[in-house]
Amino acid sequence: MSMKALVYTRPGTVELLDRPMPTVQAPTDAVVRLLHASICGTDLHIIKGDVPSIQPGLVLGHEGVGVIEALGSAVNAFAIGDRVIISCMTSCGACSLCRRGLPAHCTNGGWTLGNTIDGTQAEYVRVPHATLSLHRLPPSIDPRAAVAVSDAFPTGLECGVLSADVQPGGSVVIVGAGPVGTAALLTAQLYSPALIVVVDLDEKRLATARRLGAHATVNSGLADAEQQLMDLTGGQGFDSVIEAVGIPTTFALCQKLVSIGGRIANVGVHGTKVDLHLETLWERNISESTPVVSGCTDTSGIHMSLVNATTTPRLLRLVESGQLDIGSLVTHRMSLRTLPVSLPRLDGADPLDFPCTQAAQAYDTFQAASQHQALKVAIDFGLESSSSESTSI
Ligand SMILES: NC(=O)c1ccc[n+]([C@@H]2O[C@H](COP(=O)([O-])OP(=O)(O)OC[C@H]3O[C@@H](n4cnc5c(N)ncnc54)[C@H](O)[C@@H]3O)[C@@H](O)[C@H]2O)c1
Ligand SMILES: [Zn+2]
Ligand SMILES: [Zn+2]
Repeated sequence: MSMKALVYTRPGTVELLDRPMPTVQAPTDAVVRLLHASICGTDLHIIKGDVPSIQPGLVLGHEGVGVIEALGSAVNAFAIGDRVIISCMTSCGACSLCRRGLPAHCTNGGWTLGNTIDGTQAEYVRVPHATLSLHRLPPSIDPRAAVAVSDAFPTGLECGVLSADVQPGGSVVIVGAGPVGTAALLTAQLYSPALIVVVDLDEKRLATARRLGAHATVNSGLADAEQQLMDLTGGQGFDSVIEAVGIPTTFALCQKLVSIGGRIANVGVHGTKVDLHLETLWERNISESTPVVSGCTDTSGIHMSLVNATTTPRLLRLVESGQLDIGSLVTHRMSLRTLPVSLPRLDGADPLDFPCTQAAQAYDTFQAASQHQALKVAIDFGLESSSSESTSI
């Protein structure tokens, strides 16, 4: 039996191809039929050829929501037919790094989907270590919106908000208003800081950040951006600084913005050398405190981490209890089967129509995110049993 899959065929190219359907290969596996997958900034790095370990022929994707189609004999926590969120991290729970609370670095897993094994941007995916790598999707949560819980929300919360030690009454600056920075903005509000400022170059993303609760925004392209940011804190700098871009300029800005006794949480994936300015930071008593993220053993004032995705159950409870609205991250959807689809716009204006005549257009939309006012693009698989979801966005 074959299925449709988005395959990285060579640098710059994603193709919709027929691939054999995956099967259970180990007793700990599950095979999941996708309802929705999504495209991450990391996938863009892959198609640019920036991740040398990734070989052409790979099915992309590490984010998705689906229905369990087949289960290995050792997976007791789930049943066939369960709706699940697929975590971006697949972890065994038994190796020494899993036991130290670092499942992102599981020696039998970690980031495997869409990296070392075929990923979620297909009609079916094999998920290793299913017991820990899948989360049951509560019926009250919109399955399309839930793709943001595979990666963006745990990353924003764990690598951003918790690592930056956001506190009630504190001040927070988030540099980068993509899906991850936006997830940090939404989860930071759970901790009631007195000031949240979002920084980006894209005015549309800044407008979205204000709509989603940022008290102020600053365009870092302005000559006086740094001054504006310091003025917002009365010249003190920010208690919690979250870097969610991944380039030297923004990490340098974060180092300038941190207050005495503050914290910097680096979330961005850096592809080039980045300077740490100890010549200015040495005397600022960057805070020492107890690790706040399970597995975060670094107690210095600058935290950097690969997402462990251990907060996913907590995030789901927050969504279920109405304290966290995850609906704003998925702004666009592309169907692999039904053309065209109508999309609600981020700014509430008339829907846009996006004919997705080629699957790769979903990638084009995400790449030209600013032009399309896109945060996250969900890919709908248009299978019969998911058709009821297609009106829920
Ligand atoms: N640590 C982890 O485990 C982990 C997990 C997922 C993603 N990430 C990384 O987090 C980062 C953010 O992810 P995303 O999906 O939101 O990315 P994204 O590319 O969608 O968003 C980045 C944002 O930064 C803005 N930006 C670019 N240059 C800027 C500048 N000079 N000043 C201010 N803003 C600027 C862009 O306009 C964009 O809005 C990426 O580097 C991604 O690879 C890390
Ligand atoms: Zn991702
Ligand atoms: Zn492990």
